Amino acid sequence: MNSVTVNTLKQYVEQEVELKGWLYNRRGSGKLLFLQFRDGTGTVQVVLSKKDVPEEVFEAAKRIGIESSIVVRGKVSKDERSALGVELHGTDLRVIQEVHDYPIQITEDVPNIDKLLDLRHLWVRSKRPHAILRVRSEVVQAIRDFYYQRGFVLYDAPIFTPASCEGVSTLFELPYFEETAYLTQSGQLYGETGAMAFGKVVVFGPTFRAEKSKTRRHLTEFWMVEPEVAFLELDGIMDLAEEQIRYVVQRALENCKEELKELERDTSVLEQISKPFPRIHYEEAQSVLQKLKDDFSRSSDPELQKLSGDILKNGLGDDLGAADETAIGLHYKQCVCIHHYPREVKAFYMKADPTGKYAMGVDVIAPEGVGEIVGGGQREDSLEVLEAQIKKHNIPPETVSWYVDLRKYGSVPHGGFGMGVERCVQWITGCTHVREAIPFPRTIYRLNP
Ligand code: 4AD
Ligand code: MG
Repeated sequence: MNSVTVNTLKQYVEQEVELKGWLYNRRGSGKLLFLQFRDGTGTVQVVLSKKDVPEEVFEAAKRIGIESSIVVRGKVSKDERSALGVELHGTDLRVIQEVHDYPIQITEDVPNIDKLLDLRHLWVRSKRPHAILRVRSEVVQAIRDFYYQRGFVLYDAPIFTPASCEGVSTLFELPYFEETAYLTQSGQLYGETGAMAFGKVVVFGPTFRAEKSKTRRHLTEFWMVEPEVAFLELDGIMDLAEEQIRYVVQRALENCKEELKELERDTSVLEQISKPFPRIHYEEAQSVLQKLKDDFSRSSDPELQKLSGDILKNGLGDDLGAADETAIGLHYKQCVCIHHYPREVKAFYMKADPTGKYAMGVDVIAPEGVGEIVGGGQREDSLEVLEAQIKKHNIPPETVSWYVDLRKYGSVPHGGFGMGVERCVQWITGCTHVREAIPFPRTIYRLNP
């Protein structure tokens, strides 16, 4: 007998097969049972008729609870009504473990999010998290393929670091023998060493930030992909970010159709990905925001009115806030690159533009309220300017002397960016909170399970 998986069942029409997995749901009683069976690759309906199986088998199938582990045998038959196109006519069912008190109801969903996140170790079996995490898997594979195909060298950065990359306010500090270490906020500074050694590298790993605010975009542990390229300047960096985002979204659209359908994702905005991303200067973004603030304040939609109140909350000339990014997304309805932020609001390593006023950095803002998914830009390549920046930002020079060496020994224009995997998955799947985009989310309020 063929032991097969649900996703391949179509190849076995009219044949006897064996499936190993779990009971997902059950209907029927009396003489006919309809079991929803899942094995991780999909779900299939198993029709079990009292007359086709020994009495004790039928009784067991009637008795066992959701998530009992089982092995079923049966004949595959065509079923045009099901999404899978086939169902199984059961001839045998063996119980591996009988379960009776599975704590999640099949109908339970996001409204019970806190309970479900407490039960995340079990909830991942349900259809919604299952679909989101499959999209995540595709996104990660697409990222790896994208860089591999373009000749980037995978270059792993350390998790324990001696210095901050993105400012001290979100550092996780821990004792490291006689010293203090910090969990990495970004592998970028190490990526730059790789760019000087290999030309093009990509750092891809977990990163950590002690984000104390409770938002739907922030995790304390998230995965970031960070390409870094020698001789690449701001325009080229925007080209690369745009190409990579487009590739990843297209792969998800092509290979995750079932998952996006399960999530009832309206993919029309995602399909805009084939159009060029508007590239706007920070000052232009400020004018657009000022106009949107006025327009929304006159809107009859209370949500837009509320948003209007929060637009440019940080003040003109400051970093963009969540409401600003939401408004930009509403306006453009596609990904937008905003470049040349004021130097003061950006990190120490960003290259100054010729006026000295702006940083040659770029953020990519995704639509539909997700906000920034990419941050990056050109790096300061002048030794003098970088040293002055390190001083200005009060960074202990001994912790970054290795980094400064890169500007002493063959400094070249270079840059890259970081994309948060969860923000990207959040956008593609349309989940409102980034915590659903990773198997075990870590936030200020959650360390368990
Ligand atoms: O804009 P950020 O802070 O940029 C950097 O860390 C650069 N050093 C990257 C580089 O140039 N190599 O973060 C980059 C991206 C953000 O755009 C966002 O997608 C994600 O990382 N990100 C977060 N995702 C989830 N939770 C958080 N707390 C995040 N903080 C940043
Ligand atoms: Mg950023």
